Amino acid sequence: MIDKNTIHAILAAADIKDVIGDFLTLKKRGANYWACCPFHGEKTPSFSVSPAKGIYKCFGCGVAGNVVSFVMAHESLTYVEALKYLARKYNIEIRERELTPEEQKENNNRESMMVLSSYAQDYFSEQLWVSPAGQAIGLSYFRERGFSDPVIRKFQLGYSPDMRTAFSDMALKAGYKKEFLVATGLSIEGDHGLFDRFAGRVMFPIHSLSGRVIAFGARTLRQDKNVAKYLNSPESEIYSKTFVLYGIFQAKNTIVRSQQCYLVEGYTDVISMHQAGIENVVASSGTSLTIEQIRLIKRFTPNVTVLYDGDAAGIKASLRGIDMLLEEGMNVKVALFPDGEDPDSFARKHSSSEFETFLKDNEQDFISFKTKLLSNAAKNDPLRRAELIKDVVRSIGAIPDAITRTVYVKECSRLMDIDEDVLMREVAKLRREKLYDGNRPPAPAGETPTPETPPPSVPLPGFIEPNSYFASSEEEIIYYLLKYGTNPLFTRIGEDNETHIVNVSEYIMTELLNDDLKFTNLHYRQLFEEYAGLTEHDNQAYIKHFIHHPDARLSTLAIHIMDKLPPLTVEDYINSTAPESLQLLHTIPKVILVYKSRIIEVAAKSLMQQQLDAQTANDKAQVQMLSERIAQLHETRTRLSKDLKRLIF
Ligand code: CTP
Ligand code: MN
Repeated sequence: MIDKNTIHAILAAADIKDVIGDFLTLKKRGANYWACCPFHGEKTPSFSVSPAKGIYKCFGCGVAGNVVSFVMAHESLTYVEALKYLARKYNIEIRERELTPEEQKENNNRESMMVLSSYAQDYFSEQLWVSPAGQAIGLSYFRERGFSDPVIRKFQLGYSPDMRTAFSDMALKAGYKKEFLVATGLSIEGDHGLFDRFAGRVMFPIHSLSGRVIAFGARTLRQDKNVAKYLNSPESEIYSKTFVLYGIFQAKNTIVRSQQCYLVEGYTDVISMHQAGIENVVASSGTSLTIEQIRLIKRFTPNVTVLYDGDAAGIKASLRGIDMLLEEGMNVKVALFPDGEDPDSFARKHSSSEFETFLKDNEQDFISFKTKLLSNAAKNDPLRRAELIKDVVRSIGAIPDAITRTVYVKECSRLMDIDEDVLMREVAKLRREKLYDGNRPPAPAGETPTPETPPPSVPLPGFIEPNSYFASSEEEIIYYLLKYGTNPLFTRIGEDNETHIVNVSEYIMTELLNDDLKFTNLHYRQLFEEYAGLTEHDNQAYIKHFIHHPDARLSTLAIHIMDKLPPLTVEDYINSTAPESLQLLHTIPKVILVYKSRIIEVAAKSLMQQQLDAQTANDKAQVQMLSERIAQLHETRTRLSKDLKRLIF
């Protein structure tokens, strides 16, 4: 934990033009500096740096952020690492915040476990390269597999001697505590003291994003089928397998540069591909892919190509992974290796360029992959065919972006020879069902009308769903909150007969609270809720708070919203000659009313669909109940639109 004052000092010292200038050649034009965007390929500069605002923004791809988020994104660092980088550059001494005793202990434990893991890695590597057994058994195994010495060193591979207690004894003698040997799983506590978990295996250290060793995978060299091929470190305070991708530390820079990430199954696939010159590759290592792993990749790129072995069992099991990737808004491609081959074996048999050509030629988008895969079975069986269509529709329905969905519907319609409209309706139906299930925030329905507000001048950050029917209203509300939150809106006479000034943020919060409304877009909601908890004195302070927020998504969002002009209608234009306070009094209630009527509109639509279903099912009581609720909604809606008219004229 870096102490707050240190963070302030770093932010005050760090000049965004200087910092970015270390990585890009900036040219001054007007008040801003320009360069070709490092985050997407381009030939003419659309990446701008504003020293006055302390932000950068690309008009081509929409990335935006502050000085810290630039260093994070460009150098693939965490927030704290980026702060440390800046502190070094500006010679600022880092003061760590006083930790509570519990935090101190937890931190110390984690640190001790990492130090021990690093010691273990050194020990295993030393055994591999220097000890006679390590050379004869471990090193020769790796070399026979075709791993080159540099790649063995790059991945810090090692060998754990085939003696029950060799490592544990050595570590204890070196002063490492038993407690941590057990907690990291390197040693196991038996009746006669500690013994080595990984004895007699070759070692694959697993690194954190910043390159520290946090766990090991250990492969046996025996052929015996009763011995587990791989043993892995148990879950611990420093290692949670759902959050870790093997190879991410070695891959992250190439992933960012190439905007592409290959996903494979195992340690050996990652290593062999590096050796073949393909470094943007990570493995989920035996577990099925998790959401957390996907989000980790997403920090670096939205583009993933999944590489599968050619055996069918594995493929079927991994289809779920594809749907998860789609749900997270990733662009998914798939490449299938020839029967019996995995990326590791394939890389060993082919040259680097052959490997690359193979990937290029065999990459297909998930939809044709899935269709081909399943359609063999479905060729002459109408029931199976229907199943297949549903399956593909489900995948398409998982994609958050409406335009992408449309593209895939077209493709699917062509591949499976089904009417495009029928498919589109199916996808829309599925998404509607999803929209109203449970308390999940509504995702955009396939048939939602386009929002009236003009499209933004810059692409939205990737994590915002651009098409949600509510999102544009929510964004507008946040815009006014950030920009005018502390401005007075009107005065009101309270119960105590005193006049109270109601400011913009109070008004907005009361309006939303009274109707129990929460933003549907999670990022907007997060920003809103954090705003509500702050007590700054002026708008500038709120804006600064969010623009320099440690959560890069929030700061990007704030920058994006602040940079966007509110939609201007004709009457706004006429009104724009009025004083600001009057404009606010006109505009802000309107924005809230529009938001509320949109919500009601969608709710009414859903109720009417339910009513239709109830009619079909001949459920009279349900139909009656629903009609009453629909009538209520209509009433509210009429009241809202009256209010709106009053406001407009
Ligand atoms: N794995 C595991 N535990 C096992 C088997 C596999 O954790 N008992 C994980 C490992 O991360 C492994 C990956 O699943 O790398 C893929 O398994 P597999 O294809 O069997 O291993 P390979 O990496 O191909 O290893 P090798 O080529 O040496 O057999
Ligand atoms: Mn293998």
